[in-house]
Amino acid sequence: MSSSNVSRRHFMGGATAAAALGTLGLTPEVLAARERRAAERGIRRLPGGAPMLRAWQSQVDAYDALAHLSSNENPFGPSEKTLEAMTYAFKYSMRYGYPDNNVQERIAEAHGVPRDHVLMGAGSGEILDVVGLTYLAHDKKVVGVEPSYGSVYSHATGIDAETILLPLEADHRQNVERMVEATNRNARDVGFVYVCNPNNPTGVTMTADEIAYLLDNIPEDIPVLIDEAYHHFVEDPAYEESLKYVREGRKVIIARTFSKIYGMAAMRIGFAIAKPDIVQEMRAYSTGSVNALARWGAVAAMEDVEASRRMLEHNRKWREQTRADLASLGYESIPSETNFFMVNLRQRVAPIRQAFRERGVAVGRDFPPMLDHLRVSVGTEEEMGRFMNAFEDILKTPLMSAQSG
Ligand SMILES: Cc1ncc(COP(=O)(O)O)c(C=O)c1O
Repeated sequence: MSSSNVSRRHFMGGATAAAALGTLGLTPEVLAARERRAAERGIRRLPGGAPMLRAWQSQVDAYDALAHLSSNENPFGPSEKTLEAMTYAFKYSMRYGYPDNNVQERIAEAHGVPRDHVLMGAGSGEILDVVGLTYLAHDKKVVGVEPSYGSVYSHATGIDAETILLPLEADHRQNVERMVEATNRNARDVGFVYVCNPNNPTGVTMTADEIAYLLDNIPEDIPVLIDEAYHHFVEDPAYEESLKYVREGRKVIIARTFSKIYGMAAMRIGFAIAKPDIVQEMRAYSTGSVNALARWGAVAAMEDVEASRRMLEHNRKWREQTRADLASLGYESIPSETNFFMVNLRQRVAPIRQAFRERGVAVGRDFPPMLDHLRVSVGTEEEMGRFMNAFEDILKTPLMSAQSG
């Protein structure tokens, strides 16, 4: 095709374009009839106008129909104000260096630290990986408990680092004395200590005193990563956020996320707070790649205190209501300070998870060695109702209630 043909195509105007479609047989009537047939066959259009492929359509429908109680998300999504801010930020979609509502500054201010104490990440998941890349080189090991947020350990394994994993106590608490002991015994080889507080998947916290004990009894040059993804939900007065240790100049890295109480999991934004020298060390391994919508949304989300309060109340109400309903059926659950909890099924969870799936409810995966405990995230009132209906239905089945182990 000659270049003049190309340019003529480009400049084809309305009447010419209609004529060209006409020569292809695509008259407005034909197009309208095609649309009608598509609608009859249930083919939908994506918001941009493109047809949604059949295979995708059924996947999307299946996803949308599920009660999502598997990943500790906020079932309502971002608040109105957060959505407004993200919508506003669309106007910067084509830019690189755009105003980002000073998100880093605002995070620093909100946490009482200077700007150079903040490292942004595409979700706190990126921050956890960056800590691994920064501190686990040269055959270093990570110390932590099991089960906990496993991506820290799988990332370590993925980069050929070792893990020193300690079991939880019978009451599901992290044993701080054993953590101190294991760290000191392996002090030369420990790259960092990982504390998930509150812990995922149990929902159990380490108290302020336990964190103080840990930090005061291990060598001060060993970094401690404290993952506070769920701190907004905690109401136990014995708990304390660990920011003060960063302000004191300790080798502590706090990881935070906008994925949980703020409902922005798909937007991918989180951050670390640490001393500037640690932030500098970590920066070498981070992409810093947080999109414009997430940045604007994050500032609005932090400021929307009322939305967080509503979420906290909803969460407390439905977590405790569901735990009470389960207790009345004879199933104990672990007291939780988060937006999820674990219920003891007294039998393997794996087949039961599948049974929930068949009833349109997605629940948590396996968390070895707690293979009899099912992790349930707090969803909407309607989703919790569906969960309880499914629970009663599944657990009354003789096959399910007869299994043990
Ligand atoms: C304890 C904990 N830390 C970190 C994350 C990662 O969250 P994100 O990467 O969405 O910020 C999660 C996600 O479930 C989590 O449970």
